[in-house]
Amino acid sequence: MIDNRPYTFNVALPGGIPNRFELHTRRTLKSMHGQYLDIEAYNDKLSKEDTLLYEVYELSRPEVAGELIHGISIVHPGLVGNEYFMTKGHFHTVLDTAEIYYVLQGNGKMVLETLQGDWAIEELTPGKMLYVPPKWAHRSVNTSLEHDLITLFAYPGNAGHDYGTIETQGFRKLILIENGEPVIVDNPRWQEPAQREVDL
Ligand code: F6R
Ligand code: ZN
Repeated sequence: MIDNRPYTFNVALPGGIPNRFELHTRRTLKSMHGQYLDIEAYNDKLSKEDTLLYEVYELSRPEVAGELIHGISIVHPGLVGNEYFMTKGHFHTVLDTAEIYYVLQGNGKMVLETLQGDWAIEELTPGKMLYVPPKWAHRSVNTSLEHDLITLFAYPGNAGHDYGTIETQGFRKLILIENGEPVIVDNPRWQEPAQREVDL
């Protein structure tokens, strides 16, 4: 039965693992099939080890509109070819649901995109709050090669997750490393929304 009493929990840094959670999700390289630009580098890395890319600790709440599901997302540092470790990224199934992120530790970028092809990249640095409005897909990218990117998130209980759209079309923009610095580049595999409709 769900505990409906107020509660607090601690997120000790460094580390960022909350002292209370119901769900721990670990995403490894094999779950990112087709998402990294350099397919050869991806296959090569996967053939050696199914590396852990990121983890999510979630405090579960009922999946209804009035609730807020919340937790901690930890993206580990690393590269696949010239591309930083990142989350899968998703739209919310209920498109009209927003999300907030608060950066606890590390450095990165949030890559955002609408179904119409509008895009945005927001800096993630400690102390920053990010508001993801309804209808924007979002992916966290860790642009440090040494430290975890640790964020706290909260989103409506009824939001749900649509991973399929991003798995199929990718994000319009990718974050790569160039001369030791993160750069934003066009994803050559991304298709214009108009083109996608034609393909359907
Ligand atoms: C929830 C949300 C975050 C992400 C987490 C992992 O709506 O946006 O909690 O779920 O950062 O990313 P994904 O879900 O894209 O694997
Ligand atoms: Zn989300």
